[in-house]
Amino acid sequence: MSGAAESYLLAGGGALGGRLRVPGDKSISHRALMLGALAEGQTRISGFLAGEDCLATARALEALGVPIRFPRPGEVEVCGVGAEGLRAAAAPLDLGNSGTGMRLLMGLLAPRRLKATLIGDASLMRRPMERVAGPLRSMGARIRTQDGRPPVELEGGELHAISYTLPVASAQVKSALLLAALGATGEMSLTEPAASRDHTERMLAAFGVTLEREALTIRMAGGQPLAATAVAVPGDFSSAAFFLVAGCLAAREPLVLENVGVNPTRTGLLEMLRLMGADIRLTMRTAPVAHAEPVADIEVRAAPLRGITVPESLVPLAIDEFPALFIAAAAARGETLVRGAAELRVKESDRLAAMAAGLAVLGVEHRLLPDGLWLKGQGDFAGGVIDSLGDHRIAMAFAVASLRARAPLTVRDVANVATSFPGFAALARAAGLQIESR
Ligand code: S3P
Repeated sequence: MSGAAESYLLAGGGALGGRLRVPGDKSISHRALMLGALAEGQTRISGFLAGEDCLATARALEALGVPIRFPRPGEVEVCGVGAEGLRAAAAPLDLGNSGTGMRLLMGLLAPRRLKATLIGDASLMRRPMERVAGPLRSMGARIRTQDGRPPVELEGGELHAISYTLPVASAQVKSALLLAALGATGEMSLTEPAASRDHTERMLAAFGVTLEREALTIRMAGGQPLAATAVAVPGDFSSAAFFLVAGCLAAREPLVLENVGVNPTRTGLLEMLRLMGADIRLTMRTAPVAHAEPVADIEVRAAPLRGITVPESLVPLAIDEFPALFIAAAAARGETLVRGAAELRVKESDRLAAMAAGLAVLGVEHRLLPDGLWLKGQGDFAGGVIDSLGDHRIAMAFAVASLRARAPLTVRDVANVATSFPGFAALARAAGLQIESR
C-alpha cells in the first residue's frame, strides 16, 4: 500500500460513455477461497478479485497450510485440504482492511483443532467482532476479543449446532456461523431479521452441501463434506455501483458495464436509482438456475434524478452502496431521506459521518441522523478537499461527485481503493472521468 498521502485530483465535469468491465466480486472471491480450502480436491476460480482484501484472505489460508496458486491474472487454484487438513499458523493472521476476511475466518476456524490470532489494520482493529464471537461461544467455541474488537484469539474445538436469530441483517455473521456449522455436530438453524446477501448459501450448494431455506430461516446439517468445484466470479455489483451513478450523472453516450453479478440480494441500488428516475437496462447473460449467481450487462444513460425516501426494506440489499447513492441524491432535485442504516457507522469508516463531512465540503445541505442521513439535492457542487478517512467506497463516491463539481476536487487518503477496486482511477479515466492519482 502506498500510504495515506495518495490522493485523487479531479478536474470537475466530464462526460461518460463506452463499455467497461469492473473487477471480480469481493464477497464471492473471499468465499471461493475459503470453501475451496475446506473442500477435498482442487477448486479453480476464474474472475477472482486480486484486491488487497481477498489477497489477505489468501495469505491467511496459505499460512494455515492451504496451497494456493495464481497461474494467470484472475485465475486461482486452491488445493483443498479437507475438513481436518488445516494446521496452526506460525504467526497472527493479518486480514488487513477486511471485515469479511476476519469474520468469516472466525467461523471457519472455530471448529478446527488449532489456535489462531486474527489481527488487521487500524480500521479493522476498531470494528465489532462480538456479533460473531457471541454466537460462536454459544456453539461451544473458545474465543476472546478485546472489548469486542480484534485481536481475536481463538482455540478451536468441538462445536454443536444452535438455533439462532441474528440481531442485525449481516451476511458476514450469517456466513461465519454457516462455516462454523460445517464443522459442528447437529443441525444449525439461522434466522435473519431481513434478507442479506446469499452468496455463501449459493456457493455451499455448488460445493455439494445440502441446506434448506424457508423464508428468512436457513437449516443445515453439520459434518457435510465439500467437493471442490469451478467458481466463475462475476464483476462486483458494488464496484459497478460507482459507474452506475456516474452514468446517471453524465453518460452522454450509453455506458455499458459488462458481466456484472446481479444477485437480487445485492441490487437494492438499482431499485433506488430507478425510483429516482434513472435510465438503466439489464441484459441477462445467464439463464435463471437455482443456486447459480445471475450475471448481466448493465446499460446506463444520463437522466434527471429526483430525491426519494429510501424504503428501509432495501437497505440491507444495498448496504455497501450508500456512499454512491448519497452522491446520486446530492445531484438530484429534491430531498432524499435514508433511515434504518445504522450499520453504516461500523463499516470501514463511519460512513454516515464520512459522507456528511464530504457533502459539507461540496456545499450540500444535509442532516446527519443516528441511523441515516437527510439531504437536499442541488444539481452541482463546490470544489475543495475531501478526506476519505481511508475508506475505499467514500473515496470512489467523491471521485464520482466530481462529474458535477464546478471547481477542482481533491480526495485524500485513497490508497485503500485497492482493497476492492484495483485500477479504479484508470478505468474511470477511460470512461470519461477527469481523474489523476498522486
Ligand atoms: C459482506 C457483507 C456486508 C458488506 C461487506 C461484505 C460479505 O457486511 O458490507 O462489504 O461479503 O458478506 P455485513 O454483512 O456485515 O453487513
